[in-house]
Amino acid sequence: MKKQVGIEALAIAVPRRYVDIAELAQARGVDPAKYTAGLGAKEMAVPDPGEDSVALAATAASRLIQEQGVDPSRIGMLVVGTETGVDHAKPVASHVQGLLKLPRSMRTFDAQHACYGGTAGLMAASEWIASGAAAGRSAIVVCSDIARYGLNTPGEPTQGGGAVALLVSEQPDLLALDVGLNGACTIDVYDFWRPSGRREALVDGHYSISCYLDALSGAYRGWRERALAHEVVRWGDSLPSEQLARILYHVPFCKMARKAHTQLRLCDLEAAPATQNATAAEREEAAKSTASYDAQVASSLSVNARIGNVYTASLYLALTGLMSAEAAQLAGKRIGLLSYGSGCCSEFYSGVVGANAAQRIAKANVEGVLARRERVSVAEYERIMNLASDAPEQLTPAPGEFRLKEIRDHRRAYVGG
Ligand code: CAA
Repeated sequence: MKKQVGIEALAIAVPRRYVDIAELAQARGVDPAKYTAGLGAKEMAVPDPGEDSVALAATAASRLIQEQGVDPSRIGMLVVGTETGVDHAKPVASHVQGLLKLPRSMRTFDAQHACYGGTAGLMAASEWIASGAAAGRSAIVVCSDIARYGLNTPGEPTQGGGAVALLVSEQPDLLALDVGLNGACTIDVYDFWRPSGRREALVDGHYSISCYLDALSGAYRGWRERALAHEVVRWGDSLPSEQLARILYHVPFCKMARKAHTQLRLCDLEAAPATQNATAAEREEAAKSTASYDAQVASSLSVNARIGNVYTASLYLALTGLMSAEAAQLAGKRIGLLSYGSGCCSEFYSGVVGANAAQRIAKANVEGVLARRERVSVAEYERIMNLASDAPEQLTPAPGEFRLKEIRDHRRAYVGG
């Protein structure tokens, strides 16, 4: 029998503070409906300098190990997907290994390609296990980022921060991956980038949306070709994408998932034998189906709407939201996942939700983690944004949390755990 590989469990870490998005809109003199209805946001995480990508990654990985009863001696690979690492050479992953006192006998590295880095790590880990090279060991893949554009920029309402830690193994209780079906697409573009030394990202906002949609089309068509060849989906009364119970997207802001879903459907409608006689306008109208979006996408977005963008972790926050909402009823069903990283690379893959998914996600206590946060005013958010990245506030970490304490002689010291 073919080896099963995939995500066994997950855990999340989010900044302790958030701002209400309608309040931010009012402070900027913008109609709140632009941020709530236009972008699909509700709340936005406000990381302080003590909550850097290392601290958030270590907190998420520590929770994964504690809550899910992981035996650290089983872990042979620790990968951190991030585009907001803290050093050009020393990876976030080695900090996490040290802070959690994990065994030395593991491979550690960071994976960077904008928001795609976490998926690159997940694929490296799952294919390592599927190949047999892991020899029964598991991997931890942590997606950790601070999404930061700066005050009074168009990207401001799409900031955020956090981390999602994934346990990847031969016991995929959450999601068994369809190894070998993935489709990928790379295009060399300048849609979003962050030159070395800059804290804030640079972005060509509207162009970045079109790059995302272009790369999505290439990746999805690649997956569809293989999924059709393996008879995982077929042309028939329904479109191939409609044969996936749910579809998760990279979510820089929630409305992007709606645009992405329309594009995905358009890819099918353009190729479907049944719609060959339709006009382009008719296909575009059919692609926009609200019923399809409501049935296949909407239920995954509740956590993203409360955190904002988390770059590498955004797709995996959508997985967290979906599992929190519907794990039990999705058991045994196939879902699709679309990862996008600016620059750009996109990957579409699929997997089958496991029978134990509901028990696994319950242990992650997602609602509890979100409920512990504190709402801050826009003035307090601005104060935190203006703090220097090398001068963290000396706040006491909550039990199980890590924080950056200080940077001395270019060495970072953390407290907590
Ligand atoms: N009521 C309701 N809706 C309103 C409204 C109102 N009063 N005013 C505007 N809107 C709607 C607009 O119609 C628009 O919706 P549609 O796109 O569906 O038409 C939406 O609100 C946003 O309005 P604008 O496009 O005018 O907003 P903007 O020019 O300020 O820019 C943005 C929006 C480009 C997303 C900007 O926030 C940005 O640059 N964000 C960062 C970049 C980003 O997230 N890119 C996504 C793709 S790249 C990627 O995915 C990688 C990554 O993580 C960064």
